Amino acid sequence: MAEPARRHLISLNDLDDEDLRWIVGRGVEYALGHRTDERPLRNSVAGILFRKTSTRTRTSFSAGALRLGAKLINYGPGDLQENTGETIEDTAAVLSRMLDMLVVRTSGAEAELRAYAVSSRMAVINAMCADEHPTQALADLTTLTQRFGRVEGLRVLYVGEGNNTASALALALSRYDDTSLYLRTPTGYGLDQRFLDRAELNAKRSGALVEEWHDMAELPHVDVVYTTRWQTTGTVKHTEDWREVFAPFHVDAAVMAESGAKVFLHDLPAHRGEEVAAEVLDGPASLAFTLAENKYHSARAVLAWCAGTGTREDPVRDA
Ligand code: CP
Repeated sequence: MAEPARRHLISLNDLDDEDLRWIVGRGVEYALGHRTDERPLRNSVAGILFRKTSTRTRTSFSAGALRLGAKLINYGPGDLQENTGETIEDTAAVLSRMLDMLVVRTSGAEAELRAYAVSSRMAVINAMCADEHPTQALADLTTLTQRFGRVEGLRVLYVGEGNNTASALALALSRYDDTSLYLRTPTGYGLDQRFLDRAELNAKRSGALVEEWHDMAELPHVDVVYTTRWQTTGTVKHTEDWREVFAPFHVDAAVMAESGAKVFLHDLPAHRGEEVAAEVLDGPASLAFTLAENKYHSARAVLAWCAGTGTREDPVRDA
């Protein structure tokens, strides 16, 4: 019997519209408690390679793979012979003969993930790299769909560094009709122009708006305020005065009131008193911990899709 074709998830831009919506829809189904008896990863072995710290993403993919029927091999940052000079290409050529999927977190660029993705025998999943955090954005979309019943037309204010969470959010929201993403990022710590350009290309097709300002003046009226901690995992700041530069990019009750947002999202981990006031993170508008849970539901959807489940032959049920 032919092996199922496995699929890589390295950038949101790799997904066509149908696959993007399938993964988000399946994540919502899992969040609602559907399909708990299905084991699309039965007889599979998943490698979990995390070079950087993680609580949510690592646990989401590990628990998700186990629940879907896979067995796991965990690799810490010092475990593979890459540390003694073996190339990623040689490592991937070996692992792809033994594993069905490899979930990777690295502080390297997207190109590093692509170097692992050499074979359709082993799906490679980007669990965060320097450029993009696509599985975070898929959990974000799952949470928005669960809360609002749609993503189309939503207005989101993002406050904080233009990091890999922001780039993935921009690529994700710009795929949906008439969404608006207002990025408020500190000067010198904005979204990489490559991602603004890609999001604007998406937006031309969908009618979305992606706009970046470097101050907190005149906040737009939005549905959702989203922030992320000032110290992005795996990165260091390139200016000594970065705390002063970041200080205004803080979400408190005044920001929530001025923006009119009914929902607050944070990708976590959080530092109360820095990027967000405790009263907002722990307040009634916050879905930060629902979003954390949805990382698990969304990870299962990603794993099922990468294993070859999906789309026309396996439609998402109405939630
Ligand atoms: N949001 C997120 O990616 O969390 P972890 O770093 O804990 O995986």
